[in-house]
Amino acid sequence: MKPNLITKITLCGLLLNGIYANAQKTTLEVNTTKTITKIQPTMYGVFFEDINFAADGGLYAEMVKNRSFEFETPLMGWIQPKSDRHSYNKESGIATTINVLENKTNPNFCRVLVNDDKGYELINEGFRGMGIKKDAKYNLSLKASNPSGSIKKIIIQFIDKDKKVLGETSISPSASDWQNYTAQLTATQTEAKAKLKITFEGTGTIDLDMISLFPEETWNNRKNGLRKDIVQLLYDLKPGFLRFPGGCIVEGKTLAQRYQWKKTVGDVDKRETLINRWNMEFAHKLAPDYFQTFGLGFFEYFQLAEDIGAAPLPILSCGMACQFNTGELVPLAELDPYVQDALDLIEFANGGVDTPWGKVRADMGHPKPFNLKHIGVGNEQWGPQYIERYKVFEKAIKAKYPTITIVSGAGPFPEGDYFEYGMQELKKLNAQIVDEHYYKNPKWFRENATRYDNYDRKGPKVFAGEYAAQSVAIASPDNKNNWECAFSEAAFMTGLERNAEVVYLTSYAPLMAHAEAWQWTPDMIWFNNLESYGSANYYVQKLFSNNKGTDLLSITKDGKALIGQNDLFASAVKDENTKEIIVKLVNTSAKAQDVTVDLKGSKLQSNGKLITLTSANLQDENSFAEPKKISPKESEYALKGEKAQLNLPAYSVSVLKLKMK
Ligand code: AHR
Repeated sequence: MKPNLITKITLCGLLLNGIYANAQKTTLEVNTTKTITKIQPTMYGVFFEDINFAADGGLYAEMVKNRSFEFETPLMGWIQPKSDRHSYNKESGIATTINVLENKTNPNFCRVLVNDDKGYELINEGFRGMGIKKDAKYNLSLKASNPSGSIKKIIIQFIDKDKKVLGETSISPSASDWQNYTAQLTATQTEAKAKLKITFEGTGTIDLDMISLFPEETWNNRKNGLRKDIVQLLYDLKPGFLRFPGGCIVEGKTLAQRYQWKKTVGDVDKRETLINRWNMEFAHKLAPDYFQTFGLGFFEYFQLAEDIGAAPLPILSCGMACQFNTGELVPLAELDPYVQDALDLIEFANGGVDTPWGKVRADMGHPKPFNLKHIGVGNEQWGPQYIERYKVFEKAIKAKYPTITIVSGAGPFPEGDYFEYGMQELKKLNAQIVDEHYYKNPKWFRENATRYDNYDRKGPKVFAGEYAAQSVAIASPDNKNNWECAFSEAAFMTGLERNAEVVYLTSYAPLMAHAEAWQWTPDMIWFNNLESYGSANYYVQKLFSNNKGTDLLSITKDGKALIGQNDLFASAVKDENTKEIIVKLVNTSAKAQDVTVDLKGSKLQSNGKLITLTSANLQDENSFAEPKKISPKESEYALKGEKAQLNLPAYSVSVLKLKMK
C-alpha cells in the first residue's frame, strides 16, 4: 500500500521529532570547587511508625500474637477445640482468662483446664501465621503456675495447616507457683503459615502467661530482638536519623490512647498492652487484632538507632489527640505531665546513670548515653491549640536542655490554611526545625522540585518528615509502590538536596508493611513472615542516602538549576571523606537523553562509577517474586577530559561518582 499525503506528513513529523529527540542534548555545569552549604548528616533518614504491623508482627520478631492475653478479647489469636461454631468442646478441656487487678500492667493470665490430654490443644495463630525456616532454632519462653502438679508436661509444636508437626519441644512445669520456663524448637521444614500448638500431659488445671516465641537468629543476635532481614534493609540505607514511634500513633485517637514512652521501658512483661490506633481506622483494612505490646519500646528504638548509625529522633504527644479523630485537648493548665515526659525522656537518653531516668536506661543494659540531640513536639497537629502547647514545651525544654533541637510540625498538608498558619506562627517563634508532610500524586513531586528554592534561609529549617508519591490518592488501598512514583520522588529529592541549606532532615513514609496485614499503602519496605524486600522507592532512598556527600555543589543548565527542563532534574555534591564528586540525574521522560556534565575546577580521576536505577514501565514494581526487579546497577565509568558524557535511559535515576585526584 502506498502512503498517502497525510501519512507522509505524519511520518515526516515523526522522523523530525526523532531527529530532534536524538539531537536534544543537555549540557550541565558543576562547579566542583565552591561549597554552597554543608549537607547535614541527618539529611536522609527513616520514619518508623507502628502501622501496617510494622512493630508487633514485623520488626519485633515475636511470633506469638497476644502472648500475655491482654488484647481486648483476651483469647484473641488463640484457638481451642470447638464442638460447633459457637461453643467450645469443654469435654477435652478449656482455656479461660483470669484478671488479677492488682497486677496493673499485665493483669490477665490464661487458666487451662485439661480434661482429656489426648484431645485438648491450645493453638496460637501468629501474625497471619508464623514463618519458620528449615533447621532454624526458635526460643520459647513462658510463665507457668502448676498448683496441683497434675500437669506433667507442656508439649509445644510447630504445625502446618494439616496439623503436620514441623518441630517440637516440651517443658516440665515443676513448680506450683509462677516460674519462667524456656525451651527451644528446631523447624524441620520451611513454612510460611505455621502455627504453635500447645498440648499437655496429665489432666487438671495449669496457669500460663507470657507465652513467647522468637527466632534464635535476630539482628545482632539479641535475645528476643528484632528481625534480622528487616533491620538489614534499614542498615543498608545508612540512615541519618530514625524517627520514632510515628506518626499519628504518637497522638492516639484519644488522649488515653496516645503513645506514652514511660510505659514502654523496663521489663517487657510489665509493659502495658495498648490498642493500636490503626486497628479499625480504615474500613478497607480492618485489623481488630492490632495491638501494641511495646516489646519494641523506647529503649529498643534508641538501641536500633545506634545499631544502624542513625541519630535518634523521638516524637512525643503535645497534649492533643489526633485531629482526624477526636482532637481531644489537654487543658493548658494540665499540660505539666506531658512536658515532664519530654524532659524525662531527654534524661532517659542522655542523663548520667545517677539520674533517675538515666538509671532506668543503665539498668536496661545501656549505661552510656544515647546522645539524643533532637526531640519532636507533636506529630502533625494544626491550629492555635498546637502553637499554644508548643510554646509551653519549648520554654521548658530550652530552660533545662538548651542544646536540644526541637522539631515542631506544620500540620498534615504541605499547603493550605493549616500549613500557612502553622508556618507563620512557628516562624515568629523562631522554631528551629519544622516538620512538613506531603502525600501527593507523582506529578506533584515532579512539579515541586523547586519547593524550597525560595524558602527563607534565615527561617526555620525543614524536616520533610513524611512523604510518598500516591499513585491513586492519599490513603487509597489501591496505591502502588510503582516506578513512576519512585522516580518522581527522586526528581523531588534533587530539590531537597539542592536546598540542603534549609532542608536538614527528610524521610519517606510509612516505612514498612506486612503484606497481609497492612492498612496504608504505599510503603517503603514490604515483608511477610519469612521474607522482606525494598520497593523501588526504597532503592531511590538508598541511592540518595548512600551518596549524600558532605558539601553541596551547584549544578546548572545555562546558569539555572535543572528543575525539569527537558524532563531532567539534577543535584551535585562533594564527599570530603571519600574525595568524590557525586552527580545525581533523574530523567523523567519516556526517551533516553544525552547529557554532558562539565565538571569544572577539580582534577578528577578518569575511572569512575555510574549507578543506574531504571525500569521500562511506569507501573513496574518490586515484589516477593522479583524483589530486585527495580534495583541499582553499577558499572565502571571512564571520564574523558573534564566533561562526562552520559546517555540517561528513559525513566531513570543515575548517580555518577568520580574520584578527585
Ligand atoms: O504515614 C501514615 C500517617 O500519615 C502518619 O501516621 C501521619 O502522621 C500521616 O497522616
